Amino acid sequence: MGTFYLLCLFAWVLVGGILTSGETGPSFDQNYHVVWGSDHVRSVRQGREVRLAMDKSSGSGIASKLYYGSGIFHMRIKLPGGDTAGVVTAFYLTSGSNAHDELDFEFLGNLEGQPWFLQTNVFTNGLGNREQRIRLWYDPAADFHLYSILWNEHQIVFFVDKTPIRVFNNKENIGVGYPSQAMQVVTTLWDAEDWATDGGQIKTNWTQAPFKAYLQGFDINGCPSNITNSPACHSTKYWWNREQFWSLNPNQQSAYADVKKNYMTYDYCLDTKRFEKPPPECPQ
Ligand SMILES: *[C@@H]1O[C@H](CO)[C@@H](O)[C@H](O)[C@H]1NC(C)=O
Ligand SMILES: *[C@@H]1O[C@H](CO)[C@@H](O)[C@H](O)[C@H]1NC(C)=O
Repeated sequence: MGTFYLLCLFAWVLVGGILTSGETGPSFDQNYHVVWGSDHVRSVRQGREVRLAMDKSSGSGIASKLYYGSGIFHMRIKLPGGDTAGVVTAFYLTSGSNAHDELDFEFLGNLEGQPWFLQTNVFTNGLGNREQRIRLWYDPAADFHLYSILWNEHQIVFFVDKTPIRVFNNKENIGVGYPSQAMQVVTTLWDAEDWATDGGQIKTNWTQAPFKAYLQGFDINGCPSNITNSPACHSTKYWWNREQFWSLNPNQQSAYADVKKNYMTYDYCLDTKRFEKPPPECPQ
């Protein structure tokens, strides 16, 4: 009996260790491939982790092999450390078409010791200009955090770990575009010194290169599709399309209100210099 319990304990510790270190789940190659700067991308730990690098010669990027019509997409990311002004790490969904649909997380690097800002944007049919920005409440270069995008017919939600930081509701009924083209999952590391830090005033310090971002979590909860508005991808056989994912639950609503109150530093809906009256999807 004693040995049996010991064995169980041992197995439990082993499994726990494997799960928390991100060793399980599909490897990078199963769902993703390198799309930019292949000599700046390195796969480690049997493909369970990928390192993107950027130096003066190139940035780098990966993308999912397939396109999707709905899902909840994620990436565990540890951002580059040190002085990262000018450096942008992006995690996004994009249709890549001419009039593209796109959902962006853009992590804006900063001088060492300065806070990181996370910019999000929503493009529908090529129309973006929907930036929001939050100040992150932790150091995203110190450890991996989970970044997710829920996309179903009713809402798009951006999450940092499990906290909603942005919601884009489907308001096609009042003529607002809503992403409906098939999109692929992309992560890139690139130089954006002309705008990323302090509106482009602080440039990339190349003596700090190479900059490195670390990625984990290559499983994809998505409905594979190559067509716009795929009916099959709206089916409730996919759990993210079920009613409890049509809007935030009360706990999520209060967490989201807290983020907006304490961490949101820019919201296009409130930018009266830019928009005489708020765009139609914004509170009027
Ligand atoms: C760039 O980094 C180097 C090495 O840390 C530092 O000596 C230099 O002051 C930095 N340059 C700027 C413009 O911050
Ligand atoms: C989408 O098209 C690509 C390229 O033609 C193909 O490899 C992939 O299997 C297609 N995916 C789906 C879900 O049909």
